[in-house]
Amino acid sequence: MPWTDSSLFLSTIQIIIMSYFKIPSKGPIGVFDSGYGGLTILKEIKKLMPEYDYLYLGDNARTPYGTRSFEVVYGFTLQAVRKLFDMGCPLVILACNTASAKALRSIQQKDLPYLDNTRRVLGVIRPTVECIGNMTKTRHIGILATSGTIKSESYPMEIKKLYPDISVTGMACPMWVPLVENNESDSEGADYFVKKYIGNLLDKDSEIDTIILGCTHYPLLINNIRRFTPNHIKLITQGEYVAESLKNYLYRHPEIEERCIKKGSCNFITTESVEKFKESASIFLQEDIEVRSVTLE
Ligand code: DGL
Repeated sequence: MPWTDSSLFLSTIQIIIMSYFKIPSKGPIGVFDSGYGGLTILKEIKKLMPEYDYLYLGDNARTPYGTRSFEVVYGFTLQAVRKLFDMGCPLVILACNTASAKALRSIQQKDLPYLDNTRRVLGVIRPTVECIGNMTKTRHIGILATSGTIKSESYPMEIKKLYPDISVTGMACPMWVPLVENNESDSEGADYFVKKYIGNLLDKDSEIDTIILGCTHYPLLINNIRRFTPNHIKLITQGEYVAESLKNYLYRHPEIEERCIKKGSCNFITTESVEKFKESASIFLQEDIEVRSVTLE
């Protein structure tokens, strides 16, 4: 459905009336990432649950988040959640490991109570970790992620809670997100950095038989990553697991599910220019999309 100014105006009026009378408002499911990476999650969620409305927010003007401090990632992510709440989302998925690692817990525990305790914010790390129990035979797994996610130790901590027998080795891949954001996924430069980080990871632990791609941008480099990873090693991308986990969450939380609009629409907002976002996102999504530019503050 085209995203016109009048439909936006009507939904804003609706939000104001509903909040005045304290009626829980309905809206799209919000999906947030620092840039294009969250599209790999959105794609799988839409595939599994095409009936819902979605609103994707990419903070493309300030990407990458992976090398930024805890305070900065937390501040940016909180602004994004506020924006998606303001635009009516009853539920926001942080389709970004860096934001999930550095901001999710604080937002859930500290900010939601005063922002709006009837809405929810979920991340992508827990659903990914839940799936690995049966996948590794050697019980040695590798995590490839941004420097921020690796430094936060979120993956080893979550894995330890569920599978204390699994040994986890992380490797930061700081060049991969800029390669994706700048459409350089198929270049010689990408080959060099993909080979390098995978080599570094396997040098640290040669018994690894399963690698989690712990950054939502990395599936956009999957062909290169597969090429430089020994065949016996399984590569885990997060989209399907996050989608399954969201479906399950909505089933268990009818009070949230009832507030998610089901008209099958999907709209996009970006902190960058509309043209830039459209060009790059359409290549990946292979469809024409409606985009608006927003400011986060
Ligand atoms: N795609 C995000 C993640 O999963 C963030 C990448 C970045 O902005 O550095 O970590």
